[in-house]
Amino acid sequence: MLNVALTKGRLEEDTMELLKNRGYGIEEWESKGRQLILQDRKKNVRYFLVKSADCLTYVEHGVADVGVVGSDVMEEYGGDYYDMLDMDIGICKFVVAMPKGKEANYESGHLKIGTKYPNVATKFFKGKGFDVEIVKIEGSVELGPILGLCDAIVDITETGTTLKENGLTIVDEVFDINAKLIVNKASFRIKREQVMAFIDDLKGE
Ligand code: PRP
Repeated sequence: MLNVALTKGRLEEDTMELLKNRGYGIEEWESKGRQLILQDRKKNVRYFLVKSADCLTYVEHGVADVGVVGSDVMEEYGGDYYDMLDMDIGICKFVVAMPKGKEANYESGHLKIGTKYPNVATKFFKGKGFDVEIVKIEGSVELGPILGLCDAIVDITETGTTLKENGLTIVDEVFDINAKLIVNKASFRIKREQVMAFIDDLKGE
């Protein structure tokens, strides 16, 4: 049996669609409700639905042999696993955004940066030689500069709608993001055949 950790939320629907297109469809997916474990007996695959950072943990600990997770989370948390496949889903990017009209302050002086990704933000601004203070925010990051908690945010944007509707504008691009398939190191040895067959099927080979 191959244990696969899938990231809940934004990436979930695209991952499930891709799996279905590759013959891994599970009937109950549409009606799964709050179920967190789903089994495909035909393919001998068991799926868990987990939060993005936990996907790394499940794979690192070998509870999941394989995980599908965003490269944003991998970059933020690191970890010990094989990064095996770039997927054409979960395409978005990390940007620095500020309230419209405040862009002029971006390169001048001390900046307070609100973000869910303190490691990514710290590395980015260090690379630029900017003097910044990082404020960790857990969600609705766009509120930070509006309410005066921070000057700018480092966050993910996909459609750009959230930034636009909250009067923020992109002042810098950090890096592009996509979903990746990661593999537990021991599983790669012990279940190599099943892991590789799964990867090849997802690649469409
Ligand atoms: C992410 C991100 C932005 C939004 C961007 O948040 O942090 O807020 O999506 O998407 P858009 O460019 O398509 O508008 P998410 O929806 O994951 O929720 P959160 O704010 O609770 O973290």
